[in-house]
Amino acid sequence: MSLQLGVIGGTNLYHWSRKEGKNAEPPRTPYGTPSSPVLYVDVAGESVPIIVRHGLDHSIPPHRVNHAANLWALKAVGVTKVIGISSVGSLRREIRPPTVLIPDDYFSPFVVPTIHDREIVHITPQLDEELRKVILNAAEKAEVEYHPRGVYVQTVGPRLETKAEIMVIKNWGEVVGMSMASEATLAQEMGLHYASICSVDNYANGIAEENLSFERILEVAAENWNMVRRVLEELVELLKG
Ligand code: HPA
Repeated sequence: MSLQLGVIGGTNLYHWSRKEGKNAEPPRTPYGTPSSPVLYVDVAGESVPIIVRHGLDHSIPPHRVNHAANLWALKAVGVTKVIGISSVGSLRREIRPPTVLIPDDYFSPFVVPTIHDREIVHITPQLDEELRKVILNAAEKAEVEYHPRGVYVQTVGPRLETKAEIMVIKNWGEVVGMSMASEATLAQEMGLHYASICSVDNYANGIAEENLSFERILEVAAENWNMVRRVLEELVELLKG
């Protein structure tokens, strides 16, 4: 675990080989129970700890994910750099799913989690630019089609957005999802370096003519996984140095 790298992602992470630790109980943390045990998978010859955000049986909806516990569990095994993989809808016709977007900022005025309930701490939220640059280099090396920046807008979920909501939300950013901003904020509060790879799995409601369904989003996410996986493999190669 010399890379000090951890990954939090959706159910597609589970396609990785090895998965040592999957039968362990999720650890206890000061913030409660994480979504899954910390599993170790093989990425480019390295053992990388991961947390499966929606649980190993995919039973934890976005609004109930305990991001603080997930991050703490990774920190407890020595992780200092976290990559969050997030499924998103595109708010732009030209950001055509399936594709990958590496966000450079987020907008999340509706959900603002904190670990600082009893003290006054005001972080200035930002994604870790150094880690983001490593992702960009990795995406280049992986030769996948990707978008190098964009604002991630977070909604509460679990339902998708109405067309009327998207008409407004599209003025705020490039992609919409339900978890990355919360995860990024809490990671920063915990002193972790955090950046994200967004798997663009659909057009947000009303951006294209096609009707939106969760089943279709999952299908495209599975297609996108190959790209995300290649970027992660190159990223591990780069961090190995
Ligand atoms: N909206 C919100 N979250 C999402 C979407 C979306 O269109 N696609 C994937 N996660």
